[in-house]
Amino acid sequence: MTKYIVEGGNPLFGEVHISGAKNAAVAIIPAALMVDGVCRIENIPQISDVSLLLSILQDLGASIRTVNRSTVEIDCTGIRNGQVPYDSARRCRASYYMIGALLGRFAKADVALPGGCDFGGTRPIDQHLKGFKALGAEVSVQGGFINAGAANGRLNGASIFFDKVSVGATINIMLAAALSDGLTVMENVAKEPHIVDVANFLNSMGANVKGAGTDVIKIRGVERLHGGTYSIIPDQIEAGTYMAAVAACGGQVKICNIIPKHMDCITAKLLEMGVEVDEIDDSLLVRRIGPLTKANVKTMPYPGFPTDMQPQLAAALCMAHGTSIITDSVWSSRFRYVDEFKRMGAQIQVNDNLAIIEGVEHLTGAQIQACDLRAGAAMIIAALAAYGTSEITGVHYIERGYESVVEKFRRLGGNITSVEIEDSDAILTAG
Ligand code: EPZ
Repeated sequence: MTKYIVEGGNPLFGEVHISGAKNAAVAIIPAALMVDGVCRIENIPQISDVSLLLSILQDLGASIRTVNRSTVEIDCTGIRNGQVPYDSARRCRASYYMIGALLGRFAKADVALPGGCDFGGTRPIDQHLKGFKALGAEVSVQGGFINAGAANGRLNGASIFFDKVSVGATINIMLAAALSDGLTVMENVAKEPHIVDVANFLNSMGANVKGAGTDVIKIRGVERLHGGTYSIIPDQIEAGTYMAAVAACGGQVKICNIIPKHMDCITAKLLEMGVEVDEIDDSLLVRRIGPLTKANVKTMPYPGFPTDMQPQLAAALCMAHGTSIITDSVWSSRFRYVDEFKRMGAQIQVNDNLAIIEGVEHLTGAQIQACDLRAGAAMIIAALAAYGTSEITGVHYIERGYESVVEKFRRLGGNITSVEIEDSDAILTAG
């Protein structure tokens, strides 16, 4: 088992190169299952969720060739329509994209219900099932598995108005509809950058998807998808995480290999807090010299402030002068990190779906435990900003979604070390 030891209190300086977007990669890999040929996918992040999804494809008969650190070739020509077992699906929420991909290719899917980060509340998939049924699939949930299939072996295009804006449901129905018969019109859809990236991937393989990134997506089903090459967009949330780290620790960092437009919602909030952000081509120069100012933020679907940046911003707001309020309108109970921040001296109260943060002069190092991916990243930020030593356990959550996170922070002058520990030590550390 691994933990991170962090000596905090130093500003960050240097450059960080942003990897491919996790939430695009975990959808594009399942989508490759629909392609009758070789998909060469570039700028793929080296994270455990990607490794897991590639292994699920391999178990279904795909052949995977690692070209280099960030490029794989996936050949699903001979893939069979097998079951995605519980042991795989429970470890990654994005395993549910296998349903849309298998339905798209075979008009039949048998996939265990997904796992993924636990925010203390439910993570329903009713909108996914609504979409599959609209396309003509019969859907049942039995024994922890989702069984879906079209009686006549083909899905038919349909009009679908989502009751809730859902990233997962938008992508899953896009996958299932890409090889269906006829026109599918999806409304009240999610517009995140990774939605557009998945649509662009599908189109580069011969699909006909229009309107991704707007409120209405139209998909005209095609007979088959051919192979091709696709490069994944840079990760908006990874970039935002390093921006929040500069806000919390101070210093100056160039965030390289990003799409500045995707960062607008995060940049705007940091500017409000007194952080300087300058756009330079495909980079942002982020600088924080003086004190941080308090800010209020409400998370919203894109182009609003992303819920996946909420814990990281909270880490910075712990040291902002004044009282800040964070409201999470997407995951109402995404505040399990607050108790860990309180162990470091943070002054935070949580009421329902909002956190009230009274800024303090500084945090103090402590033993803390990551409880989900973004909370874990926020704990690294808090530990790097705090005075003294922190020990972070539960780091496997962080490594699900951040490539080389220790190396990247060390290169910025962060004093963070990854050490192996006995499982019993981890329990002791968890306190
Ligand atoms: C995706 O999760 C992301 N995960 C999450 O990022 C992210 O927090 C979330 O979108 C919102 O942006 C991946 O892309 C793998 P949703 P997803 O469906 O698809 C409700 C991270 O840190 N809802 O957009 O599961 C739901 O309860 C992860 O990278 C329904 O009611 O989220 C929530 O309130 C954590 N019924 C809202 O919609 C449904 O069928 C948004 O959920 C589906 C969702």
